[in-house]
Amino acid sequence: MTTTSTATAATASRTFPADFLWGTATAAYQIEGAAAEGGRGPSIWDTYSRTPGRTRDGDTGDVACDHYHRWAEDVEHLDRLGVGAYRLSISWSRVQPGGSGPLNPEGVAFYRTLLEELRARGIRPFVTLYHWDLPQELEDEGGWANRETAYAFAEYARSMAVVLGDRVEAWTTLNEPWCSAYLGYGSGVHAPGRTEPAAALAAVHHLNLAHGLAARAIRDVLPGAQVSITLNLHAIRPVDAASEGDADAVRTIDALANRAFLGPILDGAYPEDLLADTAHVSDWSFVRDGDLEQIRQPLDVLGVNYYSTVTVRRFTGDGERSENDGHGASRHSPWIGVTDVEFAQQPGPYTAMGWNIEPSGLTDLLLRLHRTYPGLPLAVTENGAAFDDDLVVTGGERRVHDDRRVAYLHDHVDAVGAARDAGVDVRGYFAWSLMDNFEWGYGYSKRFGILHVDYPTGERTWKDSAHWYRRLVSTGELPP
Ligand code: NOJ
Repeated sequence: MTTTSTATAATASRTFPADFLWGTATAAYQIEGAAAEGGRGPSIWDTYSRTPGRTRDGDTGDVACDHYHRWAEDVEHLDRLGVGAYRLSISWSRVQPGGSGPLNPEGVAFYRTLLEELRARGIRPFVTLYHWDLPQELEDEGGWANRETAYAFAEYARSMAVVLGDRVEAWTTLNEPWCSAYLGYGSGVHAPGRTEPAAALAAVHHLNLAHGLAARAIRDVLPGAQVSITLNLHAIRPVDAASEGDADAVRTIDALANRAFLGPILDGAYPEDLLADTAHVSDWSFVRDGDLEQIRQPLDVLGVNYYSTVTVRRFTGDGERSENDGHGASRHSPWIGVTDVEFAQQPGPYTAMGWNIEPSGLTDLLLRLHRTYPGLPLAVTENGAAFDDDLVVTGGERRVHDDRRVAYLHDHVDAVGAARDAGVDVRGYFAWSLMDNFEWGYGYSKRFGILHVDYPTGERTWKDSAHWYRRLVSTGELPP
């Protein structure tokens, strides 16, 4: 989405309605561990993280937060936090090790028990079917660049609707397909680590198709099911608001990052400018007759993940083009050979990821979605910040004074409130993350949790932000 700043500083407290959904979020590969236990098959993240040089310090999700064994304790924490909802993902290769064929009863039982325990505590499970951990066997057959993966995903979704349908509150087909496609197959900084621009565009389409086919499959089994998708829509700003070139740079990135998903999913078409901008890489012949009808399925809610903004300008060829791709430098750009756009360094402050802190981008993004798709309910399915937290132990008491995370969460919840005040139908907010976890290519070096995890022992400690969030959730009152 293109955005302009509309931020206003919070001066009064805000009250959220009693039915506003407060939650926290995690993802299977980032927390579960037990990579070779309980009949789980290998996923692309196992392969990628075990390949030397791919992740920080060679970190893998082999043990992670050991949630596979400590899930009951983690549900206790959720209960104490008082959240009404918990967003988790299912590891496809745990429930269907090869990505097709028979289900693994042990894997299914793990999720059935977990979901049951959540429900017993009145915590509504929001289940994401794909948070990046493709079964390795499917990658061996081409991964998301192969159309067949979309059909395999739909079958997996159907199976999950059958075996878990009685325990799931709402289904999210995919988490951030932008990352799966462009980082997995374009820049290669995510699994499977391929750097093939044409494959990245094919992946965009096959992920969209997978979403549509899965939404239908879920509703075939469960006619009243709530179905959503979560997108990391980019809040894009021009360096110079008066420059036509910069406005065009915004349009280019908006097409690749945002409208490549919103277009087919909500409007039933790929944007013409996207096809034109990427013609040097692909003719998009992987889009077959009937695909767009399959992709455009009704959405009960659109999930939005938001962390920061990006700022772009038209690169005119004078001087050296910055290698900054808007998310930190990488050897290969995720932007499919687009060379006339440059990402500008953002003004601070920054989180430990180097991402700028700009809550107004969230308000603007929600407003823009509301204007473009009136009547579409929205939820912030991820928002949060990594900081270098210190665990302080005094007289046996363990504390983490994460004031900057409290401020970050506060200001972004306030930004959601501002959007609601402006009439946007935002129904929920999920803090990323319940606990520190495996931050993909950054391994365990970045801590996003409101619970601290001591990785050698697995011990969880409530950070100040967890105490703060608990108060917010119980009162619905955001102090100024
Ligand atoms: C988005 C992803 O969905 C999640 O897995 C990741 O940890 C956070 N952003 C933070 O980078």
